[in-house]
Amino acid sequence: MADTILVIDDEQNYLLVLSTLLEDQGYNVTAIPDPETALAYLEESEVDVVITDMKMPKLSGQHVLEHVRRNYPQVPVLIMTAFGSIEAAVEAMRVGAFDYISKPFSNDELLLSVAKAVQFAHARQQNRLLLESMSKQFGVGNIIGGSRPMRRVLEMIQRAGPSRSTVLVSGESGTGKELVARAIHLTSPRKDQPFVSVNCMALNPGVMESELFGHEKGSFTGAVARKRGRFELADGGTLFLDEIGELSHETQVKLLRVLQERRFERVGGVDPIEVDIRVVAATNKNLQKAVSEGIFREDLFYRLNVVHIEMPPLRERREDIPLLAMHFLHKFSRENQKIFKGFTPDALNYLQGFDWPGNVRQLENVIERSVVLADAETIGVEDLPAEIKDEEAQYKSAVDMLPTRINLPDTLEKIEAALIRRALAKSEFVQVKAAELLGVSKSLLAYKLKKYKIVVH
Ligand SMILES: Nc1ncnc2c1ncn2[C@@H]1O[C@H](COP(=O)(O)OP(=O)(O)OP(=O)(O)O)[C@@H](O)[C@H]1O
Ligand SMILES: [Mg+2]
Repeated sequence: MADTILVIDDEQNYLLVLSTLLEDQGYNVTAIPDPETALAYLEESEVDVVITDMKMPKLSGQHVLEHVRRNYPQVPVLIMTAFGSIEAAVEAMRVGAFDYISKPFSNDELLLSVAKAVQFAHARQQNRLLLESMSKQFGVGNIIGGSRPMRRVLEMIQRAGPSRSTVLVSGESGTGKELVARAIHLTSPRKDQPFVSVNCMALNPGVMESELFGHEKGSFTGAVARKRGRFELADGGTLFLDEIGELSHETQVKLLRVLQERRFERVGGVDPIEVDIRVVAATNKNLQKAVSEGIFREDLFYRLNVVHIEMPPLRERREDIPLLAMHFLHKFSRENQKIFKGFTPDALNYLQGFDWPGNVRQLENVIERSVVLADAETIGVEDLPAEIKDEEAQYKSAVDMLPTRINLPDTLEKIEAALIRRALAKSEFVQVKAAELLGVSKSLLAYKLKKYKIVVH
């Protein structure tokens, strides 16, 4: 099907000229002189590209641009400005115009701009379809991941979610434990009831109990009114106990009792309160170890650990990185009203080869910063923040690392991966050339690429 271009200009002459020119090229053109009518038209029809004049009575091109960026972020907008009004053009680019055309324009220039915008719209649409199919295929809600460890996690969620079993989610910081807890709630019959979360680290032990169980008026200084605790608030729904490893001994005892008896009393109260809750707990500690060290009660551990979901660190599921990176690129370009096609192969290799001590959260932050800083339509290595590239710098002088403790095999692997990435980038991703640069056979390089999950497009 031909691409549809919406042209908005209050000057009929221009409308006519543009329509003829674009129709001759095989585009499907809708020409509307009134911007308000044009915006109404957008609501009803699929449009691939918008071309709008800047200066119009009633609504300015700027307004049209902002409206389209906000409501149809996938549609590129070309702005036409009167010759010489360069400030307006610059401003339009700043707020997310795809390109600007100054009037009078040369036909070739205009067509080139339009062709680029159309191409861009296609890439955008393809990305969106890809993301949609990815999340249908692999995701529960907005959990992205197609790697084997993540498929197992998603399977566990789907299996355990609908039950009432207590679930313990463990894993390093930023691996998505809270996201999983929410997904469990959403796949359960309780999904329309509250999801109440308590961060056991943020609250000091004194406040913890009244926070969890509530208190009666006058039960302690400052308890000026009766207050309901999180257990009561979560009645019928799911209670998420985050950072469970941080609970004091005293609170551990109380929590165990509630989990066993499903009832409790408010602080300072005598009447037992019964609740119907499902508990999901999360920790970035090794609870088993805390049990053997006597820090965490064994009986509570077994109560919580009915179903255990272990979140793999991101470096152990590198094949998810491109999916996640695209997901976050999409998210932040929408938020920042920018249009991005994707990443250069170099940039993707850096992302995929990095160790991500802060896991998915760190990747999310890195993509957000790149989106804000980048001004080209594709994110390249130069747009990635230093923290990722520094890793390579660090290995440049690997010998200097020795004063601190290192892990030799791990470090060597990182250096090797960094060298391979660099060689590939230098040889424009022609594997034979990269192998030559590295002085290894093509098959050995192929093996290493697989090992380090380095992609070659
Ligand atoms: N598989 C995933 N798909 C999409 N987004 C993810 C995924 N995993 C994590 N995220 C995002 O990464 C961020 C961190 O996730 P989350 O807060 O769930 O981690 P966490 O394990 O609870 O971390 P912490 O231990 O530091 O509390 C969130 O913004 C979350 O949406
Ligand atoms: Mg968390």
